[in-house]
This record gives sequence, C-alpha cells and structure tokens, in this order.
Amino acid sequence: MDSVVVTGGAGFIGSNLIRSLLHQSNRPLWNVDKLTYAGSLESLSGLNPRGPYEFVHGDIGDRKLISNLLTQARPSTIIHLAAESHVDRAIDGPLPFVMTNVVGTCNLLEETLNYWQSLEAPQRSRFRFVHVSTDEVFGDLGPVGKFHEQTAYDPHSPYSASKAASDHFVRAYYHTYGLPVIVTHCSNNYGPRQFPEKLIPLMILRAVAGKSLPIYGDGSHVRDWLHVADHCNALQVVAERGVPGETYLIGGQCEKSNLEVVRDLCAAVKELHPDLGHEPHQLISYEVDRPGHDRRYAVSTEKIRSELGWSPRVSFQSGILETVKWYLENSEWIQEVTRGECHGHRRGLDRI
Ligand SMILES: NC(=O)c1ccc[n+]([C@@H]2O[C@H](COP(=O)([O-])OP(=O)(O)OC[C@H]3O[C@@H](n4cnc5c(N)ncnc54)[C@H](O)[C@@H]3O)[C@@H](O)[C@H]2O)c1
Repeated sequence: MDSVVVTGGAGFIGSNLIRSLLHQSNRPLWNVDKLTYAGSLESLSGLNPRGPYEFVHGDIGDRKLISNLLTQARPSTIIHLAAESHVDRAIDGPLPFVMTNVVGTCNLLEETLNYWQSLEAPQRSRFRFVHVSTDEVFGDLGPVGKFHEQTAYDPHSPYSASKAASDHFVRAYYHTYGLPVIVTHCSNNYGPRQFPEKLIPLMILRAVAGKSLPIYGDGSHVRDWLHVADHCNALQVVAERGVPGETYLIGGQCEKSNLEVVRDLCAAVKELHPDLGHEPHQLISYEVDRPGHDRRYAVSTEKIRSELGWSPRVSFQSGILETVKWYLENSEWIQEVTRGECHGHRRGLDRI
C-alpha cells in the first residue's frame, strides 16, 4: 500500500505533477480524469514511468468508479486536483463548477473515508489526502499585505465560491471523522501544458500569430506567479511532510500586474523569435473588465518555508522564457487540445 492516486492528472497542473512523480519515484501511480475540454491525454504523451502507472477515464462524482479505483489502487496518498478551473466559464455557467468542485469532491471524500476506515492502524496513520485549492478563495487583498493561513474566506466569483465550498467539506472530514487531509492554497501557476484559454498561453499564441493581445480592464490586476514545477514540488513536499488538518499557502513571491506579465512574455516571444516581422507589445489592447475581478492576490509562504522547508526555485524571468519556448515548440499539442474549443469568443460577459 504505497501507491498514489492523482485526480485531474490530464489537466495543466495534474499532467506536470504526474510527470514529476513518475520521474522521481517508482511508486505505483493512478491518474483519474474525466477528460473534459481542459484535460487531454496529449498532455501525458511520452511518459516513461519507472513504476506502474494506470490512467482511469472517469468522473470523481462517480462513486462506484472511485470506490473500485481505491480498492484496486490501495493508495497511501491522494492528491486531488480535478476541478472546473476557468473563472470566465464559471460566470457563464456556475453549475458544472458546483457539480465537480463541490459535489464531486464530496463524493471523493465519502469514498476516501470508507476506504481509509477499512485500513489497519499503521496504514491509516500514514494515509494523506491533499486537497489542492487556490488563493482566490480569500478574495480581493487590497493594495498591501499578503494572504496567510489565517486569512478569512471571501470568495467573489462562482469559481472561487465552489473551491471554497469544497475546502470547507474537506476540513469537515478532518474535524468530524479524523480523515488525514491537508489543504493547500496556491497562487497563479504558469508553465507548459496550460490550456490556451488562460492568460499566459493565450497571449503567447496570439503574440506569435500577430493578433491583438486583449487585456481585461486597465491591466493593473496583480497576481503572484509561480512556475508549475515549483507547485508540483510543493505538493510532493506537503504530501510527504505536511501535518494532517493543516493548511499551507504556496506562492511564487512574484507579484506582477497582468500588463507586466504580457509585456514580459512579449519580450520573451521577440527574443526567441527575432524574425517575427512585428513587435508583439504593440498588439496590446484593452477590453471590458471581468465582472467581480479581484484586483490583487499575494501569498505569504512563510509557513511552508519554515515548517516544511519548501521555497520556489524557478525565477519568473527564466520560467516565462522556457514557457514561451515550450509553446513555440509544441504546436501539435496546441492543435490537439484546442480542437473545437478556442473560438476566440470572449467568455464571462453574456449574462452581465
Ligand atoms: N492553474 C492555477 O493557476 C491554479 C492555482 C491554484 C490552484 N489551482 C487548482 O489546481 C487544480 C488543477 O488546476 P489546473 O489549472 O490544472 O486545471 P485544469 O482545468 O487545467 O485541469 C483540470 C483537470 O480536471 C479534470 N476534471 C474536471 N472535472 C472532472 C471530474 N468531474 N472528474 C475527473 N476529472 C475532472 C479535467 O479533465 C482536467 O484534466 C484545480 O483544483 C485548481 O482549482 C490551480
């Protein structure tokens, strides 16, 4: 009983985590994913597992499937990433977010509890359920300060509200049943294999194609950017050394406005593609802001640094260059994952 189950392992962070886990260890690894528009087996191509690896195509809301998976896999660790994750889509239609992020997580918790309670005492005490949440549940930070583990919840979007609800259920299973859960709240991730509806990959692809680079509002919204490899490393550290019932914030110590991010990636595009024939930064344009758009998030990583010894390693400067390079070199992946999905239609305004 030493295997790991990852949910949502065909998505952006999940596929990077699967790669990292398979690279670092030969522990049996199980990946359950529904393969929504945001998940693709293409993101898992070319895996070279050192140990057993199984992909299970399914919904975390399917209790029988999850029950069978846990009986077969007998995990000592579950890392739960499966979610609907795009804020603009949640504004257009919150219910799929409720179904996966809240109800799906509750289904997973129910089956995990049944499984955990069936274990012998030594296995029970080793078991960990890591719930991957977001800093967005804390809402708008204001111009100064940072989120920390005691910050009160104040979600403003249907996405962050659904993640907040799932966090509460996860903690309730610790307090009520003793299930050894750990909750993480990470800031904005960037890196390879992020679905090109999110800011950084969208802007890279448009900058290369010579299309306008539409920024929401005045572009001054600040996020704390973390390379996905650092997030994956933090999740492994939390799973190994984190304390059940505890919460850890994860961030990049890298506050940047959206405008700065887009300017940085334009410079990286130009550096890697000097013969482009146009100046990407001249394509920047401004469009109507996202409704309820939080102005600033920033994360204190003091606890995970001092208690678990984790800190980010990838600088934004090198991370963004490497990310732009990855998108320039992986047009087949882009074509495969965006098939039928990216129509250039601005989401999140239809109901306002
Ligand atoms: N991307 C970020 O910047 C960020 C930051 C902090 C936290 N998070 C959290 O990390 C997790 C992963 O984020 P991401 O950016 O990789 O998301 P993503 O949208 O790229 O991937 C989500 C994955 O979950 C799968 N999925 C969706 N519904 C499912 C269901 N019902 N059953 C099984 N699988 C399902 C999808 O197919 C996809 O592979 C999410 O929980 C998100 O809230 C993301």
